Amino acid sequence: MGRLRVGVLASGRGSNLQAIIDSSLAGRIDVEVAVVVSDVADAQALERARSAGIPAVHVPPGRFRTKLTPEAEQRYTEVLEEHRVDVVALAGFMRILHDDFLERYSGRVVNVHPALLPSFPGLHGQKQALDYGVKWSGATVHFVDAGVDTGPIILQAAVPVMDDDSEETLAARILEQEHRIYAEALQLIAEGRLKVDGRVVRTSEGAAGATGGDDA
Ligand code: GRF
Repeated sequence: MGRLRVGVLASGRGSNLQAIIDSSLAGRIDVEVAVVVSDVADAQALERARSAGIPAVHVPPGRFRTKLTPEAEQRYTEVLEEHRVDVVALAGFMRILHDDFLERYSGRVVNVHPALLPSFPGLHGQKQALDYGVKWSGATVHFVDAGVDTGPIILQAAVPVMDDDSEETLAARILEQEHRIYAEALQLIAEGRLKVDGRVVRTSEGAAGATGGDDA
């Protein structure tokens, strides 16, 4: 099997995108970022893609604030198809996707969230955790369903919340884990090792000699 072709949708900074690109270029994951699409013309994510020689496409979202118009969503689909994308990875993509899109890419859209879901979905997961006073938070990579941050969970990583944390310090601690588990989750998909059973994602044992060890 060839490398998994991933299309990344991103609206901003693109540090998760960068982590995926770095792992891909270093050959640590059997993933190729086939295209990066953004709703924001000057998103840093697009620049990161261009610097890595990856096609970077701005597709305007249309007139809505939190979702894409049907025409815009159609264009996203076309771009992803043009680049023969197997899996769509949302990385700081600030738009809600409709059922049509999710049906077309059923079971093949993933997202990273800066909290231990189902706690603190939606915006500002780090601030929500601080305000609530939890002692642990973390990062979640999950399949995307029609809800906001409600899909089956692939991987999570916990980090402690310190008494003197600000939103920024906690976000930085969580981000390190996001970068690590996002690449790892994509590798599990590339290896065909995930099975979704209702809400539960099960991971099969890797085949002998599969990548992921340090036997390179
Ligand atoms: C990350 O914290 C991610 O969990 C959230 O948006 C942020 C995106 O950061 N969905 P970046 O654009 O990947 O740097």
